[in-house]
Amino acid sequence: MNQSEKEYELGMIGLGVMGRNLVLNMADKGYTVAGFDKDEEKVGSLNKEANNDRVFGAKNLKEFLNSLKKPRAVIKELLPHLEKDDIIIDGGNSHFIDTERHFAQLSKKGIEFIGVGVSGGEEGARHGPSMMPGGTKKAYGRVKEIFEAAAARVSGEPCVTYLGPKSAGHYVKMVHNGIEYGIMQLISETYHIFKEVMGVNDDNLHNIYKKWNEGRLQSYLVEITSHIFRQEDAKTSRRLVDVILDEAKQKGTGKWTSQDAMELQVPVPTIDAAVSMRDLSGYKEEREKAEKILKGPDHSFEGDKNEFIENMEGVLYFSMIATYAQGFALLSKASERYNFDLDLVAVARIWRGGCIIRSVLLDEFMKAFKKNLHLENLLLDDHFSDIMMKNQGKVREIVEKASGWGIPIPGIMATLGYYDAYRRAWLPANLIQAQRDFFGSHTYERIDEKGTFHTQWNEE
Ligand code: 6PG
Repeated sequence: MNQSEKEYELGMIGLGVMGRNLVLNMADKGYTVAGFDKDEEKVGSLNKEANNDRVFGAKNLKEFLNSLKKPRAVIKELLPHLEKDDIIIDGGNSHFIDTERHFAQLSKKGIEFIGVGVSGGEEGARHGPSMMPGGTKKAYGRVKEIFEAAAARVSGEPCVTYLGPKSAGHYVKMVHNGIEYGIMQLISETYHIFKEVMGVNDDNLHNIYKKWNEGRLQSYLVEITSHIFRQEDAKTSRRLVDVILDEAKQKGTGKWTSQDAMELQVPVPTIDAAVSMRDLSGYKEEREKAEKILKGPDHSFEGDKNEFIENMEGVLYFSMIATYAQGFALLSKASERYNFDLDLVAVARIWRGGCIIRSVLLDEFMKAFKKNLHLENLLLDDHFSDIMMKNQGKVREIVEKASGWGIPIPGIMATLGYYDAYRRAWLPANLIQAQRDFFGSHTYERIDEKGTFHTQWNEE
């Protein structure tokens, strides 16, 4: 497509999978979009695929910038070429600290910046992602209509809304990914037990997750899991999942969630366990060596398989809820600390569709936050506390069994630990304080008197 006389409403830099699909999605909704990529092939394939005058793939940066209506709205970094009131939109998985820095740099030059988390993978970008934007309200006002047209919809409502200033959008996307890591790990642990202890074959694994997805576990991640077990490998006669190397890669967003949660002192143990397990999966060679040295118990399954599978559904339900609870608790603290002024009802609402962690639970989270805007933790909501209490027995049973079998389920175990610690008015931290005061004179507080105290501990 050649550049016509027209001025395009939005520019996209980077025509990889997400960029290209977002351009096509916005063009479908009637907007005119220019795209640019250093890779000429990507520009060519955009023009070919779009084949209409709402999309223009530019050959170079100059042509791209000239094709845009002023003040321009451009996705990506091109500061030297921009002018006051232009908007740069970063739609990548950027670290929120980088987003903060960009805001500081750009605002000095009068250039607007929107950091928007976009979730939903290739399919979402093309047909409707969940979008998590942060920036000034004024800048958002200029792109709101396009974002709303491009985003997924649930019950007629777009899965996008203004979330807050500066890096609020990228922060929310980061936590989204942390929850994504947690849920993926939990599902993989259920698979581990089914496969290794119970010997469930791929067809039956497909059936289990399919059935789960028809009930209260209905979610994108459970749904794709059921599909995965049916996929044949094109190169062998096996199922594809069985020829995939057991090393999980990561681009870092889950790790950032754990890192910032540590920074803000918000416990997110299920997410931490998920990050550690991805790391541990990378030690394939060492694990192969260790398998020959470090022996554990044998495992054999006894009991009613169907009942066990049903119980496991409750375990995943319990653990998934606790993972979201950890993520929302982190958002709540971050909102306070970074002045995001997040509306958790809105976050739950825009996560209902388009994104990787969409699930029927999001509607219920929305209700819980609507009922109590100051809810400290989802586990304190009546509806969820009831679910957690009812399902805890199943989790205890699985944890006991898995540890007896020697099957690692650190995500589920961390979740149960979180639940059991959170629900206790007393924890043994008094002993830790005593130890700190003993070796370092760090002082302690008392339960019966205000103030800080130090004791000359008796060493005998
Ligand atoms: C999404 C995904 C998306 C991407 C992740 C994968 O919301 O659409 O989260 O952003 O698939 O970057 O992350 P890892 O490479 O860290 O697993």
